[in-house]
Amino acid sequence: MALSVQAVRGMNDLLPADTARWQQAEQVLRDTVASFGYSEVRMPLLEKTNLFSRAIGEVTDVVEKEMYTFEDRSGESLSLRPEGTAGCVRACLEHNLIYNQEQRLWYMGPMFRHERPQKGRYRQFHQLGVEVFGLNGPDIDAEIILLSKTLWDKFGISDNLKLQLNTLGTSEERLAYRQNLVSYLEQHFDDLDEDSKRRTHTNPLRVLDSKDPKTGEILVNAPQLMDFLGAESRAHFDNLRQILESCGVAYEINPRLVRGLDYYNLTVFEWVTDALGAQGTVCGGGRYDGLVAELGGSPTPAVGFGLGLERLILLLTTLEKLHERNAVDIYVVGAGDNAAVEQAKLSLRLRSDLPHARIMNHCGGGNFKKQFRRADKLQAKAAVILGESELATGTLTVKDLHAGDGTQQTLPYAEAVALLKSLL
Ligand code: HAM
Repeated sequence: MALSVQAVRGMNDLLPADTARWQQAEQVLRDTVASFGYSEVRMPLLEKTNLFSRAIGEVTDVVEKEMYTFEDRSGESLSLRPEGTAGCVRACLEHNLIYNQEQRLWYMGPMFRHERPQKGRYRQFHQLGVEVFGLNGPDIDAEIILLSKTLWDKFGISDNLKLQLNTLGTSEERLAYRQNLVSYLEQHFDDLDEDSKRRTHTNPLRVLDSKDPKTGEILVNAPQLMDFLGAESRAHFDNLRQILESCGVAYEINPRLVRGLDYYNLTVFEWVTDALGAQGTVCGGGRYDGLVAELGGSPTPAVGFGLGLERLILLLTTLEKLHERNAVDIYVVGAGDNAAVEQAKLSLRLRSDLPHARIMNHCGGGNFKKQFRRADKLQAKAAVILGESELATGTLTVKDLHAGDGTQQTLPYAEAVALLKSLL
């Protein structure tokens, strides 16, 4: 049987045209988190399985059905990370980064979930994650929301993203609410969709997230968590809203926003767009003050978000916010007996004198016509010609490939470099 050489379903290659766009987006993300004073962490893609079941919750879609879990050669159960928060907390605890100290951290990289692939939903996808430890006020919740808003502003997509906000209160407040919600759902049990029936007794808050229209109708009159909040939780939420409003961030309160992972409390939020079809959540996060202790650390307040890079880049591409970018500025062509040696030497010298230019040396010989065709195909801005006469006179010929009129000038090296600089 022939070997199948196709990628795994839901896992995408990024080809040169894609990576040019990804790099532009990633640069804005990196610059922005740096401008808020956040530091990068890099965690392994594999962790012990129980880290995720413990952190994310046993009764969540991610843990129940979406993890890539396997036994390694020593019989230990490992999983590809479905998200970054659990691993980030694990790393912070292991290296003692958060005991009695604040941390503002970010990471970027692939995550893995065995979901049904469709536009905007993949089995390997990428997130920018931001996690803050050691701060419990609404000011830091506001800060990470403002950070995300800064990203949309820089990309020019603020008009296409809406902020949804909710509060999940404390675990005690949720417990009281949960009992009320369960009795309400039980009264309407027969009309619930199958998933919601199952969740009514395992993870009832997740029923609020149901996309089923009939369940949706039932939920209109369901009790609301907001009515079960104590004074402190209310004040936290009100203060957050006040900061957002003062900074001009519009939001909508969505009492059904509960998020798919179990570690959240108080503030939760999502940025959604209607430009991408069903997978419209570009960024989501919230507070998770219980997780550090749950994973064995001392109680430490925490808040963060995850931003889906595929969805962001789909949106940026749909809205034509990224430019096409070729790979080469200057193409070095040549002729003569010793062309290979001379071109290689010249290209190295040019790269050292023009460190920001992207300089490609023509390889493989051929006449000038063929060499210029390559330069045009690469959309290079200029060609540098090193022929017999240039070699003999110690000059270079520089051709402006974007001028379209075929102008070229033969100049001594230093002047040629100056001309190239002006053409970049
Ligand atoms: P999440 O909501 O599961 O949160 O994922 C965050 C974002 O990752 C989503 O809004 C979406 O843009 C993207 N995403 C999730 N699944 C897929 C997929 N299958 N294909 C493409 N994109 C996807 C978290 O992961 C939390 N760790 C966020 C967080 C950090 N909360 C606090 N700190």
